Amino acid sequence: MAKEKTLYTCNECGASSPRWLGKCPGCGAWNTLVETAAEAAGAGKNRLGGASYAGLAPAQQVVPLSSIEATEVARTATGIAELDRVLGGGIVEGGVALIGGDPGIGKSTLLLQALDALQRLGLPVLYVSGEESGAQVALRARRLGLAASGVQVLAEIQLEKILATVDAVQPAVCVIDSIQTMYSDQLASAPGSVAQVRECAAHLTRLAKASGIAVVLVGHVTKEGAIAGPRVLEHMVDTVLYFEGDTHSSFRLVRAIKNRFGAVNEIGVFAMTEHGLKGVSNPSAIFLSQHSEPVPGSCVLVTLEGTRPLLVEIQALVDGGGPSPRRLSVGLDRDRLAMLLAVLHRHAGVACFDQDVFVNAVGGVRIGEPAADLAVLLAITSSLRAKPLPKGFFAFGEVGLAGEVRPAPRGQERLREAAKLGFTVAVVPKANAPKKPIAGLSIHAVDRVEQALDAVRT
Ligand code: TYD
Ligand code: MG
Repeated sequence: MAKEKTLYTCNECGASSPRWLGKCPGCGAWNTLVETAAEAAGAGKNRLGGASYAGLAPAQQVVPLSSIEATEVARTATGIAELDRVLGGGIVEGGVALIGGDPGIGKSTLLLQALDALQRLGLPVLYVSGEESGAQVALRARRLGLAASGVQVLAEIQLEKILATVDAVQPAVCVIDSIQTMYSDQLASAPGSVAQVRECAAHLTRLAKASGIAVVLVGHVTKEGAIAGPRVLEHMVDTVLYFEGDTHSSFRLVRAIKNRFGAVNEIGVFAMTEHGLKGVSNPSAIFLSQHSEPVPGSCVLVTLEGTRPLLVEIQALVDGGGPSPRRLSVGLDRDRLAMLLAVLHRHAGVACFDQDVFVNAVGGVRIGEPAADLAVLLAITSSLRAKPLPKGFFAFGEVGLAGEVRPAPRGQERLREAAKLGFTVAVVPKANAPKKPIAGLSIHAVDRVEQALDAVRT
């Protein structure tokens, strides 16, 4: 097949050049030109310098919003409850989902299980593997106990061949594992390059929208934890899911960070077993480590993930540092840690500027909500003073720059969940204090950081 002409287009300003250049001739930005397929012949320029649309299909009619009938999207539940929960009810017809995560975390496993569940419902499904041979996929399926599965498998990395196969098979759901291994022969660049990823994803998205096939793309993540390839990939698709978790522990979280068909920040919790991923329907206590006695530098946080409260142990280690002490955090925002240390110094008089500070959210969970602040501060002071927090202790609440403690959303639910798991003492924002006492729970309601530290000083 003859190669179509390619162009190099600037990611920043859209200027194009027939050759690759280090510096964009349009805006002068460096290293922004990426290869793109040249537009089809006949797309000339109009008076204003934009593309002329004369050759395109007739334009759609403009209609008032009120006259458009709102139809519910058609969803199919996969039957894997935790996955359906993050997807907002199930796989959507014609929807495109992108699922990212570290290598070996379980993306291929989960999708193979989901496809198997869907084919049991009688839906035709296709699994396109660009990373593993058919034999390897079969081996995995056998491990998962899905050997007789009616999942159709295609080991292929060339986009045009995949599109032709999809057209012939007409699956209801098609998984592309992974988008970084696919390439289109329209472009000369290697699979995994920004241009290839963008081009392949664009074709597959168009296919989904035109045919009603649900497409799931698997995406690799970079060292920094973002999906590798152009950022525009996340904008192109309807749903973005991320796998989180420590590959050394068996628990995995699947988090929706974008969902055009449902709520975001809902999480699905799985455990990796020897027979694949199993949903964990009651996950609130899985991120607690077991200490027989309280240890310094550990504070339990009640965080809220989607609709479910989750108890996570926050650990801190404050230790004598050199001239330029280090601040490191795993699972928590590092800038926020620096801010909290400044608040601690200014408003509570606790100085850590000559100390290394490390904080960690146990189990590989990533905590984004500011309600973690109080637990982080209490873990840090506990480590600094080498004094454990009381037995059965937990905390939550946001801390502001002025040293105030702000309420966390849905405080009552958090309190009730912790009480249910046998926790007995808490420091919480004043506005989250329960109106009537919760049995077995003694609560210190605070509105300043100083008060929070005093409450546990004893
Ligand atoms: P995989 O789905 O291949 O990860 P990804 O596609 O995200 O790279 O996950 C593979 C890991 O899971 C591998 O380290 C082995 C483990 N595993 C199990 O523990 N049990 C199983 O039943 C399967 C299939 C895999
Ligand atoms: Mg894989």
